Amino acid sequence: MAEVPTSLVLRRPDDWHVHLRDGAMLRAVLPATARTFARAIVMPNLRPPVTSVDAAEAYRSRILESLPEGISFEPLMTAYLTDDLDPDELARGFAQDVFRAAKLYPANATTNSAAGVSDLSRISSVLTCMEAIDMPLLIHGEVTDPDVDVFDREALFIERHLKPLRQRHPRLRIVLEHITTEESAIYIREAYQSGDDRIAATITPHHLHLNRNAMFMGGLRSDFYCLPVVKRECHRRALVNAATSGLPCFFLGTDSAPHPRSGKESSCGCAGIFNSLHALESYAVIFEQENALGRLEGFASEHGPNFYRLPLNEDTVTLVRRDQQVPLKLREPPSPPTGEESLPETEWPVLFHGGEILPWSIECGC
Ligand code: NCD
Ligand code: ZN
Repeated sequence: MAEVPTSLVLRRPDDWHVHLRDGAMLRAVLPATARTFARAIVMPNLRPPVTSVDAAEAYRSRILESLPEGISFEPLMTAYLTDDLDPDELARGFAQDVFRAAKLYPANATTNSAAGVSDLSRISSVLTCMEAIDMPLLIHGEVTDPDVDVFDREALFIERHLKPLRQRHPRLRIVLEHITTEESAIYIREAYQSGDDRIAATITPHHLHLNRNAMFMGGLRSDFYCLPVVKRECHRRALVNAATSGLPCFFLGTDSAPHPRSGKESSCGCAGIFNSLHALESYAVIFEQENALGRLEGFASEHGPNFYRLPLNEDTVTLVRRDQQVPLKLREPPSPPTGEESLPETEWPVLFHGGEILPWSIECGC
């Protein structure tokens, strides 16, 4: 076993999939992302969803207004695809660098996806347009058929929808987001190995740490419930192998998805894990276990920008091998501007790794 370094200087990473929400929750969780990440692909599943250039610009302004002073962070906005989104609106937003990508939620696949796409045939003109302008398509890859077992929905999506979609639109660049299965890892790896650089996948920290037992450990643990749902251990292992492989087709996307406590602690609890505050440290634990710390920078800071054709960040973050006790909940969120509501303490999201000791810490002034 190689000696573990005591510190690691990395090009500052980006988060290629995050839910920042809006209003009081946005103000509460944004510092957690901006503390570590220079840029983030911001999910558009607000209520109502972000389906126009104006809405994306307004949301981007609200994010920038919520940034703590002195922190640099660039939100990269996405469009939420619906059955009737106008391709011209998408192309205009992409040309103006407002939309960096468009997100495909199969209708009712996950949180706030009711307005998503009911059938891929409904958006073929949008996909043709995206293919022509080289705009990335981000996919929540699960079938929504209620007859399909929830643990099989991702693997079936590849067969039923992704493969035919890629045949119809071979030039389309796609990110299969937050992959959770061996089937997805193999599909992406084989595409890359066959010389196809038009598809990649993001992998979350929680899918690298958890298998499905986590949701039932000593009782029903809604804090470990997210979508796509965590799978068997063999799938977790496949994801760990993919993330630490060094292959450019796999990169960091936290899918940090905060919900108010009342949304998680309910008889019909919301899907989503809030992990952004310690995401990099969490990935470092896995890379260290795999003796692959030398590949963390590629995964966290290089493969994503290369896929999105954006410059690499020039500044750095330093991870030091020093224990940190993760609190159970978010620290006190910043106070809201006068006249606006704050997030009541009872609603603060619980942190991924809450209560654990992580062996890595980010060295910074915060
Ligand atoms: C996300 C959310 O809460 O918005 N939930 C989740 O479990 N990941 C939606 C999503 O990305 O599926
Ligand atoms: Zn997500």
